[in-house]
Amino acid sequence: MTKTKAIYIKTFGCQMNERDSEIMVQLMGEASYRETSRPEEADCIVVNTCGIRGKAAQKAYSLLGGYRAIKDLRPEMIIAVTGCVAQLDGENLLKRMPHLDLVVGPQNIYRLPELVRAAQRRAIQAPAVELRGDFVIPPFLPKTAGKGSHRRFVTIMQGCNNFCAYCVVPHTRGREISRKPQDIIDEIRHLAAHGVREIILLGQNVNSYRGLNQVGGKDENFPVSDFPTLLRTIATLQGISRLRFTTSHPKDLSPELVRCFGEIDHLCPHFHLPVQSGSDRILAKMNRKYTKADYLTKVAELRRVRPGIAITTDIIVGFPGESNEDFEETMNLVNFVRYDSAFSFKYSDRPNAVATSFADQVPERIKSERLARLQSRLEEISREIRVSLVGTTQEVMVESRNKNAEEQWSGRTTTNQIVNFVCDHPLTPGQQLLVRLEEVCRHSFRGQLIHQSMTEKT
Ligand code: SAH
Ligand code: SF4
Ligand code: F3S
Repeated sequence: MTKTKAIYIKTFGCQMNERDSEIMVQLMGEASYRETSRPEEADCIVVNTCGIRGKAAQKAYSLLGGYRAIKDLRPEMIIAVTGCVAQLDGENLLKRMPHLDLVVGPQNIYRLPELVRAAQRRAIQAPAVELRGDFVIPPFLPKTAGKGSHRRFVTIMQGCNNFCAYCVVPHTRGREISRKPQDIIDEIRHLAAHGVREIILLGQNVNSYRGLNQVGGKDENFPVSDFPTLLRTIATLQGISRLRFTTSHPKDLSPELVRCFGEIDHLCPHFHLPVQSGSDRILAKMNRKYTKADYLTKVAELRRVRPGIAITTDIIVGFPGESNEDFEETMNLVNFVRYDSAFSFKYSDRPNAVATSFADQVPERIKSERLARLQSRLEEISREIRVSLVGTTQEVMVESRNKNAEEQWSGRTTTNQIVNFVCDHPLTPGQQLLVRLEEVCRHSFRGQLIHQSMTEKT
């Protein structure tokens, strides 16, 4: 029998990176590695990196720099850099930090066990950073045990063809590649059979999902499954009671996808629709291919078919050339849409992204001022929306028991709000209950359990 070794993995970035880390841990598990939370005892350290903003990449560099001491003590252990920074930096990472053994881009994570073995043999390796247009995401049945097992991510496509002027993702994940519908369905069936109740479909741009049906092979003219068709199929699968997805590009939000929100009960009333800016001039410079008016029409349509739907977004402040007036347009849009919550960022220059060469950069001080103003308004609106929900009864999916108080439980509403409530007997993660929202806390609600007969829908 092979001796068990230990792998330590640190993940930065988006949910797709989290899913990729799970995949790597599982693959290494099959090669006799157990996961450890202590990098200093690991035989293999993996840092799965994100390069979306300069700061994200910086965090990865400083962590990797710190692992030099571990490598000095135990030269036989392997340090692998995976993910988007690995893809961007390639060979340069190995030159800059000679204590690293492996550089593995997002399309190459499935090769990790083989690459680690070669590194152990001290075989000299070039970075594994090919990005192929004909890459096929391998069919892969996830491990189902472990915490949070009632709610799982399923990647349906990866990569991006949009080339927003500020964005590094098309350069790190390559062009859009959709998985076969059958592979996705097999994966979800497998999860459901092991007690998973909520599925979050992942892709950089799920709306442009185009999966070749199995029979179609590589024939482009054969029937393909688009995103709404895929959603309708998944919604019929036994055992899945909640379905979410992220992320969507507003230009690809089709009338058919809007209709899905009116027709598919299992589809949670939550839509993450990144707007980036409220100024048409800046949207055009960003290469977003929609106007503020187009965006508002889509939001209105979603709200028409699904009243109460939570709309969330991403916003960038200080994109090159953003004037005070442009920024005020973003503030106006925020006041008009009233987002349930939002992520907002200061624009950051990224390698290979065209905006990096734009001349009219906004000074750091102005970016900081704009971000502070925007975030305080977003927070205010989000709180007002949550306060307005106090007194309503919501369907809550049980997530976990509070470690410090036996009878305290926490769960999520269909709009993804966290609710803490008391229940004096055991509940199962994934179970659905009715809870009345009683009080708004900082990032959650306190609620009162109303009804527990609403067990798992199948
Ligand atoms: N595929 C997603 C975006 C993923 S990146 C989409 O198209 O919506 C998540 C967010 O990071 C983006 O929506 C954007 O708001 C932000 N972002 C991306 N590049 C950035 C940059 N160079 N500077 C600041 N924020 C950026
Ligand atoms: Fe980046 Fe734009 Fe693609 Fe989103 S749609 S990943 S922001 S290029
Ligand atoms: Fe970051 Fe790559 Fe995701 S850059 S946001 S980890 S696609």
